[in-house]
Amino acid sequence: MDEIHIAIVGLGHRALGWIHLLQRISGYRIVAVCDPIEALLEPALAALTNRDGVRATTNYADILADDGIDAVALCVRCREQGALAAMGLEAGKHVNSEVPAAHSIEDCWRIVLAAERSGKVYQLAEQTRYWGFVDAWRQIVAEGQIGRVTFCEGQYIGYYGTRVFFQDPHTGRHYGVDELAQHPQARPTWLQDMPPIHYLPHELSPKLKVLDDRVVEVTAMSTGSPSYAHPEITSPDIQVALMKTEKDALLRMATGFTQPVSHTRGHHWYHVMGTGGSIEWSRSGRERPKMWRADGQMHDMADVDWRLERTDAPAEARASGHGDADYYVHAAFRDAILHGGTVPFDVYAAIDTAAPAILAADSIAAGTKLMKVPDFRPGAARQRGERPGPAPGDAPGDAPGDAPGNAQHGS
Ligand SMILES: NC(=O)c1ccc[n+]([C@@H]2O[C@H](COP(=O)([O-])OP(=O)(O)OC[C@H]3O[C@@H](n4cnc5c(N)ncnc54)[C@H](O)[C@@H]3O)[C@@H](O)[C@H]2O)c1
Repeated sequence: MDEIHIAIVGLGHRALGWIHLLQRISGYRIVAVCDPIEALLEPALAALTNRDGVRATTNYADILADDGIDAVALCVRCREQGALAAMGLEAGKHVNSEVPAAHSIEDCWRIVLAAERSGKVYQLAEQTRYWGFVDAWRQIVAEGQIGRVTFCEGQYIGYYGTRVFFQDPHTGRHYGVDELAQHPQARPTWLQDMPPIHYLPHELSPKLKVLDDRVVEVTAMSTGSPSYAHPEITSPDIQVALMKTEKDALLRMATGFTQPVSHTRGHHWYHVMGTGGSIEWSRSGRERPKMWRADGQMHDMADVDWRLERTDAPAEARASGHGDADYYVHAAFRDAILHGGTVPFDVYAAIDTAAPAILAADSIAAGTKLMKVPDFRPGAARQRGERPGPAPGDAPGDAPGDAPGNAQHGS
């Protein structure tokens, strides 16, 4: 195979970006587009430079049954995101899925098992892990330049206005709260039901890459529903999780979609503190990222010109989106399929970012209960491709492999 025949599934704003990019990157041919909202098929087809023979369907089952499709690009925003990814793998397709991967622990297991059993490539297309500063910070931590990491912060306060929260189910058009009176047919989108903290894979992905670590425990809190900023929206403004990692670092991670933030600061922010120093991302457009070393004769933190853009980006990556990072997930997915092997951000590392986020929401639902995060890797307790047995103390009906005491995962 020298060209991946790929179907784009979920034809919203993000998919149009993927369609544009996948036509620019060698090794891909878009052969199908799919969305349950029929009105979104034509704009997706119109975004193709050559639409001849490209299948357009409102039914995901058509994509799964089509032998001419090698891979699924999953750009959906819905509760079933994880199940759809697993179904793709189960149908023998490679799957490149947008964040946040899944919305239940059961779906996390389903993805892992389907990837193991099918041998197909699963990638969570989380791109910020390819940012230039992420690799620089990973090296700093690995070399012990800031000592042993004790405390980290990360947040995704992604304010898009209110249009993402209401959609006309027939036309697919989104409306803001100020347009609802004129468009009473608009319905709340999944983003109003989704606990904001479910979006944490976008932050945990670069963070856990920097730390070379995984989360083992999580608890969380939420502001109330509806939003204080936009009372027409049921989503809480802020949810904050406290996490402990296998290497004994503490993480404070926050998300929100309705909380206004300054435009120049960006959605993402990070901080890593160790026994020998600290590194942190900039707080405003006027600032640079900063570093301080305890052994460096430094009285204050120093500005460092770390950027999202990599200094070694190939021409194909430039202007691909999100500080050039969008290119890398498509290149990694392509290379794993065409040349064999796996993606650098493999299924276990991907689910390491999704499961703590899901359990953080479960913790909130259970009154800020401490939750144990299962390890999804095969090992002594579970063979590759085998479902995990119930953990000691699990009640009948608990999700497989959960640690004792964890609440049900119906999110
Ligand atoms: N990585 C990033 O930087 C980034 C940026 C934006 C969005 N995203 C992610 O991309 C995805 C899409 O975001 P968006 O802004 O385009 O959302 P959107 O709501 O505009 O579009 C999502 C589309 O998915 C479709 N869909 C829902 N259920 C489906 C199903 N069962 N089968 C097929 N299609 C289905 C909807 O009809 C909708 O058209 C989300 O998962 C979001 O979290 C990632």
